[in-house]
Amino acid sequence: MNDIKQLIDIAQLPRHIAIIMDGNGRWAKEKGQPRVFGHRNGVKAVRESTEAAAELGVEYMTLYAFSTENWNRPKLEVDALMTLLVDTLAKEIKTLNKNNIRLQAVGDLGRLPDRTRKALLDGVASTSENKRMTLVLALNYSGKWDILQAAQKLATQVQHGLLKPEEIDDALFSQQLATADIPDPELLIRTSGENRLSNFLLWQLAYAEFCFLPVFWPDFTKEHLYKAILDYQRRERRFGMVSEQLLK
Ligand code: IPE
Ligand code: IPE
Ligand code: MG
Repeated sequence: MNDIKQLIDIAQLPRHIAIIMDGNGRWAKEKGQPRVFGHRNGVKAVRESTEAAAELGVEYMTLYAFSTENWNRPKLEVDALMTLLVDTLAKEIKTLNKNNIRLQAVGDLGRLPDRTRKALLDGVASTSENKRMTLVLALNYSGKWDILQAAQKLATQVQHGLLKPEEIDDALFSQQLATADIPDPELLIRTSGENRLSNFLLWQLAYAEFCFLPVFWPDFTKEHLYKAILDYQRRERRFGMVSEQLLK
């Protein structure tokens, strides 16, 4: 495992890695277990990937934990996920503080059950001074929701005469998103073999490198994260230019 880690060029790390943690249900089904068993076993992979990213020196890691569309799942599963979140936060905040990791949350948090939102906001408050890495949980998040709420805030400012429509540019729009002050992810990882975004950070991933892995989330290890970073570092990010321009 350390061999792979040593191949990573620390000077070229992505500052921000976003992960769609997918495949818990199928992982459990393969074992003849209920879907919730998969979610519970996904917590270890959260711990592993957070630790690995922080050890390397990644500045931000965003985990897609619950999408706006996930409310459409059976109530039993939704309730179990919300409870798991409360229990996990209660257990893990101490570790986050020990490892100097700051917790943040993005999403329409007002729609979460009170105790889930409270556990989340307590975690955010008690880790707010930590400096090593920021762990962002995307909860009741959807990329379209994020863009819409940003547009609504800007429209209100225009309506009140505080802003002219032509003043709205990339930077100003980005500042209204739930991820304001967080740099856009350079690397997106999705587990479980699905090749789609499922309404994740639509605006923010405009130029990210995508890495789709055929492993279910509960089986995701530090080694998978190292491999995804190595894959990212082997790619040429051209941003619309041609290869020769990048060498100058
Ligand atoms: C990801 O695993 C966890 C959440 C969406 C909360 P899934 O629950 O989507 O697992 P699969 O994709 O059905 O296997
Ligand atoms: C995306 O996974 C959401 C999260 C990982 C939280 P889903 O499993 O909900 O996505 P779809 O339904 O397969 O697109
Ligand atoms: Mg899924």
